[in-house]
Amino acid sequence: MDKVKIAPSILSADFTCLGAQVQEALQAGAEYVHVDVMDGQFVPNITIGAPIVAALRKLVSAYDAVMDVHLMIEFPEHHLHDFAEAGADILTVHVEACPHLHSTLQAIRALGVRPGVTLNPGTPVDAVEPVLSAVDLVLVMSVNPGFGGQSFISGSIGRIRRLRAMLDDIGSEAELQVDGGVKAYNAGEVAAAGADVLVAGSAVFGADGSVADNIAAIRSAAASKD
Ligand code: DX5
Ligand code: ZN
Repeated sequence: MDKVKIAPSILSADFTCLGAQVQEALQAGAEYVHVDVMDGQFVPNITIGAPIVAALRKLVSAYDAVMDVHLMIEFPEHHLHDFAEAGADILTVHVEACPHLHSTLQAIRALGVRPGVTLNPGTPVDAVEPVLSAVDLVLVMSVNPGFGGQSFISGSIGRIRRLRAMLDDIGSEAELQVDGGVKAYNAGEVAAAGADVLVAGSAVFGADGSVADNIAAIRSAAASKD
């Protein structure tokens, strides 16, 4: 199996020096940069939008990394064009926010962007089954979306395993990403359950060590796979 990729979430970065923080993560080998877009409607917080994606685009390209944009917003279909223009490589939408999910995923692909789908911890995994063949990424939320720094919901492990099996059953090449409360202590278990990409915010930007040390700790824990 390929090595697990790390996607630092910039939500926990120091926004006064965002470029430097992202560069530190990229220099440390982060394969993805995870951008959490919140609208104050789908989730309580308002965070950042397409201008930040555009501002980081060149830097992310310079390291051959992936601009991974997680849309925690109502009516994501109204904003896909802006995020594609800004330089998103992946646009992930919530099943709970998309009454016309398959059509929204097709619209993302038509913009030349890789479509991703995600689901909240309270949503049955079967909700994404009809679109698994239409996506390049499935994101399992292991916290309720809206805030960084929450604790990993332990029942997520079973959900990761089930989605891994569902993807394998249809021979999908889509990546399985896990987001929320991922830290060095649980990265091995999450990877062993079948995750390909680990999102980590507070464990990368909000922990005691340097960004590089924090990424290295998560990576080596994931490689150990408990
Ligand atoms: C939660 C976001 C996450 C969050 C992860 O709504 O989607 O990406 O930033 O933060 P940690 O790793 O601190 O749980
Ligand atoms: Zn996220």
